[in-house]
Amino acid sequence: MELNAYSKDQLVALEQSLTQRYDDFKKAGLNLDLTRGKPAADQLDLSNAMENALNGNFRAADGTDVRNYGGLEGLPEMRAFGAQLLGVKPSETLAAGNSSLTLMYQYVQFCLLFGAQGADSAWKNEGNIKFLCPVPGYDRHFTICEALGIEMLNVPMTATGPDMDQVESMLKNDKQIKGMWCVPKYSNPSGEIYSDETVDRMAQLGKIAGANFRIMWDNAYTVHDLIDNPPQLANLMDACRKHGTEDSVCITGSTSKITMAGAGVAFVGLSETNLKHFCAWLSSMTIGPDKINQLRHARFISTYEDLLSHMKKHAALIKPKFDLVQKHLSEGLTGKGMGNWTVPQGGYFISFDTLNGLAKEVIKLTNEMGVKLTPAGSTFPYKKDPNDCNIRIAPTFPNVSEIDKAMPVFICAVELASVRQRLKSL
Ligand SMILES: Cc1ncc(COP(=O)(O)O)c(C=O)c1O
Repeated sequence: MELNAYSKDQLVALEQSLTQRYDDFKKAGLNLDLTRGKPAADQLDLSNAMENALNGNFRAADGTDVRNYGGLEGLPEMRAFGAQLLGVKPSETLAAGNSSLTLMYQYVQFCLLFGAQGADSAWKNEGNIKFLCPVPGYDRHFTICEALGIEMLNVPMTATGPDMDQVESMLKNDKQIKGMWCVPKYSNPSGEIYSDETVDRMAQLGKIAGANFRIMWDNAYTVHDLIDNPPQLANLMDACRKHGTEDSVCITGSTSKITMAGAGVAFVGLSETNLKHFCAWLSSMTIGPDKINQLRHARFISTYEDLLSHMKKHAALIKPKFDLVQKHLSEGLTGKGMGNWTVPQGGYFISFDTLNGLAKEVIKLTNEMGVKLTPAGSTFPYKKDPNDCNIRIAPTFPNVSEIDKAMPVFICAVELASVRQRLKSL
């Protein structure tokens, strides 16, 4: 029954029985965790064979001895792999160290302090600069802006990606906006895939934004499908070529959630001009990446077909976890008017919206019953969720039996907080 259809007496009785349930969960002494958006050990096991992929042969396809210094742009075979992953040309791809987040930080810092195309283009020359942040979004993108003193402006997500009317109008009216964060496929945390129209409009932003605008296109979940025949994301760089805006994008990705999250290979895709400038800067910091790890990856996953069949093994391990969360949510909350949630076709998260003003309370109650959830507000710049409603659920790391125990606790917290709020309003 819908929350709003209950009489006051019925709500009082419901509050009492839910409080009893809350007390019982508290006594059970649970210690569970739904916060961690990382692969479980059985997913990491899928790549254990990579350890022996070199077997004493340290020569890359072009004869490079990967044990030695050099090769700033990465091994040719890994640049080709990254190019396919990001949808750009190998000559536009840098294969780097273990983290795409590091590359994002470095690229934003580079644009800010040193200039994407020479000192005159540095954002710092223009005073207070800003980034557009589709919300809810990935907390670590927002942390990069905070660390570098870049002001963040929220833009709402829609089912087809960021609200593009709003994005275009903000960019037309404010030339201090120098960048925009995007997770275009299986957005973290809301799971959307940008539509073809959104991608085409994104590719035209470089023509309406102020000078040296960059879209930070974090395609972290590009091959992380949970279903067969997954939806396809349109190719941003191709759209940019059509509109003559190749310089306006920085495309990133990595094998963190393909092979090993602490020991993958990260990539950045940039126009050849942008890449030349970025590599010149990078060369003041490093002689080259870990090419041994790159070669291990190239030998372990040598074709795109290998990659897709490897990702199917991941899906087989994590889909049952996503399905179990969905089963609990739909059995526990459908038709109750106490919240909405996403049913993603890939990626690492389920996004749950409570009634306005209840995310903090639900997370607090859930924590008190022994289940950790990502802190409220994490999915918004400055950790400020204006409606205090968004909660990110990460099902990959806990095992199925832990999820089965944790979800009834979460549902109890949602019900209890919603009933109490309704009672207060009467
Ligand atoms: C959207 C997004 N981008 C980047 C990362 C981290 O990527 P990497 O391990 O390559 O630094 C994550 C990890 O959760 C993520 O969700």
